[in-house]
Amino acid sequence: MTQTIAYLVGSASEDSLNRRLANALILASPKGLEFVEAPIVDLPFYRPELDRDFPEAGTRLKQIVEDADGVLMVTPEYNRCVPAVLKNALDWLSRPAGDMSLAGKPVMVAGASGGATSAGVAVVQLRSMLTMFNVHLMSQPELFVNIRKDQFGSDGHALTEGTQEHFEKVMGLFAEYVGNQSR
Ligand code: FNR
Repeated sequence: MTQTIAYLVGSASEDSLNRRLANALILASPKGLEFVEAPIVDLPFYRPELDRDFPEAGTRLKQIVEDADGVLMVTPEYNRCVPAVLKNALDWLSRPAGDMSLAGKPVMVAGASGGATSAGVAVVQLRSMLTMFNVHLMSQPELFVNIRKDQFGSDGHALTEGTQEHFEKVMGLFAEYVGNQSR
C-alpha cells in the first residue's frame, strides 16, 4: 500500500542544503512512500486578520498536509533556532483556531548543517514546538546530519561514507512508523 508523505523544507534558500537532505531522504525511502512537497516559502507572515481571507498558499499547504499519511520536516539551523519561514508555516497549519492540520499525523524531523551543532539544536527545538500540534512524533532515530552541499552527488545521494545507507535505515523505520499509526 502506498503512503503519501508531505514534506516541508524549512529554508527559503534557492540553493538549500536542507533541500538536498530532503531529496537524499526521498531517494533513500522504500517503494511504498510517495512524497509531495508542502511549499512554505510563498506564505505571507501569519496574522489573525487573514483567517477571514485565507491566502491560497495557506489553503494549499493545509490541504497537502491534511491529505498526507505522514509528514517529514527538514530544518536548517539559523542562529541556534528553527528558521522563521518554518515557524510561520507551523502557525498557518494551526489556523483558523481549532483547525489543526497536523493533528494526529505521524511526523519525522531531520536537519543538516556543516556547523558544529549539525542542526541538532534546531531539530530538538522543532520537536519541542511540535508538542503543541498533537502529532505522533517519531522520537527515534534522531536525524541531524553534519554535511556540506558538495557532499551530495549530482544524482542527489549523500556521498559521505555510510550516510545514504543510514538514510535508508531511517526512512525504512519512518515508513513502518507511518504504517503503524494508520492501523
Ligand atoms: C547559519 N548557519 C548555522 N549553522 C549551524 O549549524 N548553526 C547555526 O546556528 C547557524 N546559524 C546560521 C544563521 C544564519 C542566518 C545562516 C544564514 C546560516 C549555517 C547554516 O547551517 C547553513 O547556511 C546551511 O546551508 C543552512 O541550510 P539551508 O538554508 O541552506 O537549507
